[in-house]
Amino acid sequence: MNLDEIKTFTKPPESYWMASTPTTNYPALAEDIKVDVAIVGGGIVGISCAYLLTKEGIQVAIIEADKILQGATGHTTAKVTSQHGLIYNKIKTKMGEELAKQYADANESAIRMIEKISKELNIYCDFTPQSAFIYTQQDKYVQKIQDEVQAASSFGIKAEYAEKIPLDISIKAAVRFDNQAQFHPRKYLLALAKEVISKGGSIYEQTRAVDIEENNPYVIKTKQGKKITADKVIIASHYPFYNKHGIYFARIYPERSYALAIKAKEKYPGGIYITAEDPGRSLRLINSEHGELIMVGGEHHKTGQGIDTVKHYEALVDFAAELFTVENIPYRWSTQDCSTLDDIPYVGHFTSDTPNMYVATGYGKWGMTNSTASAVILKDLILHGNSPNQDVYNPSRKTITASAKEFVKENLNVAKELLKGKLTPLPDDFEIKLGEGKVIDAFGERIGAFRDEQGALHLVNTTCTHLGCELQWNSAEKSWDCPCHGSRFSYNGDIIEGPAVMPLQYEINVNTLDKLINDDF
Ligand code: FES
Repeated sequence: MNLDEIKTFTKPPESYWMASTPTTNYPALAEDIKVDVAIVGGGIVGISCAYLLTKEGIQVAIIEADKILQGATGHTTAKVTSQHGLIYNKIKTKMGEELAKQYADANESAIRMIEKISKELNIYCDFTPQSAFIYTQQDKYVQKIQDEVQAASSFGIKAEYAEKIPLDISIKAAVRFDNQAQFHPRKYLLALAKEVISKGGSIYEQTRAVDIEENNPYVIKTKQGKKITADKVIIASHYPFYNKHGIYFARIYPERSYALAIKAKEKYPGGIYITAEDPGRSLRLINSEHGELIMVGGEHHKTGQGIDTVKHYEALVDFAAELFTVENIPYRWSTQDCSTLDDIPYVGHFTSDTPNMYVATGYGKWGMTNSTASAVILKDLILHGNSPNQDVYNPSRKTITASAKEFVKENLNVAKELLKGKLTPLPDDFEIKLGEGKVIDAFGERIGAFRDEQGALHLVNTTCTHLGCELQWNSAEKSWDCPCHGSRFSYNGDIIEGPAVMPLQYEINVNTLDKLINDDF
């Protein structure tokens, strides 16, 4: 296949991690229950934290709106590394040496913890030690790389400056971290989920939390009407669904990024890589059942704010072709993660006034080690009231005030998107081709219309059920995405990811509109 043929992407996106593991089938919550700790969200944080707590004899229930481990955790690059871009010199400058050292310690410990647990429990999750490289091909990043080597080394990370890397390309500079790793996240976490159950914990799928009654104990209400009473609640639902405190919707912003798993003619030289340049590119090997696949990741844009999302996959194909002879692309997927104002996740007490409610969010695409570190912090806070690396992740940390400029910038962006969505005039072009989605003006209303490959029309009200922004069509994933806080909905209005807790409303008669469209042509 030539590159143009490869870029036609005849198959819908599918993550290798999802395709190579079985789907789960945990029950939905069918009755009211009472537990010590309720965890909202069955991703890597929720499962890891439940594992640590159940080991200590704590009674834990996880509720997951869909199925566990299929959101960001099932669509990651699965690098197990403390190398999170050029971050250490930045946080040392912004937050000081003590907090930067906590961040390094928390993430280095997370690597060792995943390794230890996978060995102890005999989990065959392809955990493989690797060196991790950040490299640049531009002079302007050389000094930044030198600064990063110095900062990371000063915090105890085994970091070295390099002028060559195992990839067959010429570079200007690189920083290498040793003792890093890669793994198969679902193989690891599905095994941990089974451990949670074997130690008396519970996992409920298809159980969406919609509200919390702040009594003592807390009562979590679910969409199905069942309730969970819990002394302590952890909100680990990726973007926090609960917004009565903490103004998280004004302090985090969601971004999408993309990955390909390619079959190449050349053998992969080993190592995990990311470029210093923006937009970044990342690489690692996947040892699949069908042989070597090279994972190529990168591109990013705010959710709902990319014009033609297919072009992001195409850009990755072009990058892959610069390095390898691409034979085909068996898997490709996109994902979404939340970033915070200072690039450090918010993990700890939901606010300083909610001693028994906790949050973990904002991994900024570095979720494997950061969320494992979060699970440890949350476990420690629940069991002991404190944790060695809690300050750098504290959601109420004072250093966030230093990010006031970012706060204003992000919230102006949301306000702009809110207004733009309401005021942008819509084309009165009613033609909707097979596989196409667009917002149209029909009967004076903004209507989201998608025509599937069989010709059937699917209509939604494009006003987001979270806080009312107007949704945009995502052509690559065939979904309706919100440019304000990142909620996503399927073409028929079901929630793909929150913070929204209600599906899109159906107020339009499909047959009437279809007739209108047909009459128009
Ligand atoms: Fe907040 Fe859509 S996600 S308005």
